[in-house]
Amino acid sequence: MQENTSLAPKESFEKFINSNKTAEILESAKPFIELIMHNECALREIETKLNVLNDEFSTLYNHNPIETIKTRVKDPISIVEKMNRKGVTPTVENIENTLNDIAGIRVICSFPEDIYNIADMLTKQDDVTVIAKKDYIQNPKPNGYRSLHYILGIPIFLSTGPKNMKVEVQFRTIAMDFWASLDHKMKYKHDIEDADEIAAELKMCAEAINAIDYRMQVIKNRIEMNRRK
Ligand code: GTP
Ligand code: MG
Repeated sequence: MQENTSLAPKESFEKFINSNKTAEILESAKPFIELIMHNECALREIETKLNVLNDEFSTLYNHNPIETIKTRVKDPISIVEKMNRKGVTPTVENIENTLNDIAGIRVICSFPEDIYNIADMLTKQDDVTVIAKKDYIQNPKPNGYRSLHYILGIPIFLSTGPKNMKVEVQFRTIAMDFWASLDHKMKYKHDIEDADEIAAELKMCAEAINAIDYRMQVIKNRIEMNRRK
């Protein structure tokens, strides 16, 4: 067996690590790392508020309005791609001013009424501001997409003082989330032969899911009424 005696990659890596260039690169990356960290903090603030509301409901009414909370910070490549699509240079300042969805949180609720109750209680809190709202449940997208979207403002408290952050919050039921996952898969497949037929079938499923969501809500309310008698 021939031994690999070449040390070149290791040497060049060490050289790179010890060079001034690395320090320069790390220094220039700092504002981006900070940007990501600030968005992670903003997500934690909103997530905690949602968990508090869920715990309170669970204790007082024996009901968990929130099934799951998913958080994500947009990855750097997607940030740069979106900035390019918008034709804006991706400096940290431009990114913060242009994008509303660097921090994203998806709140999956059990029933449609839970969505509006939780969203109402969250958006009424003193330190939360509503920057934008799109109700795709009252006004579904033509493809059948349903969810309640907000861009919320929330301060995070840094050593230098408060900083206002934006967080995109999407509320949907378990059924709406199930539908959106499949629809999302379809969006990333551009070579589907019977795309129109699939889109029509998906739209029908969205309507059926919506009907079931509301029937389940009615059943739940009837059970609750019976319990109180
Ligand atoms: P971006 O698409 O993020 O640039 O924002 P926008 O200004 O179009 O906002 P909108 O509130 O309409 O959508 C934001 C997010 O909602 C998307 O990034 C998706 O996560 C989700 N979304 C919106 N429309 C659809 C849809 O038709 N299908 C699915 N699966 N998700 C959707
Ligand atoms: Mg987005």
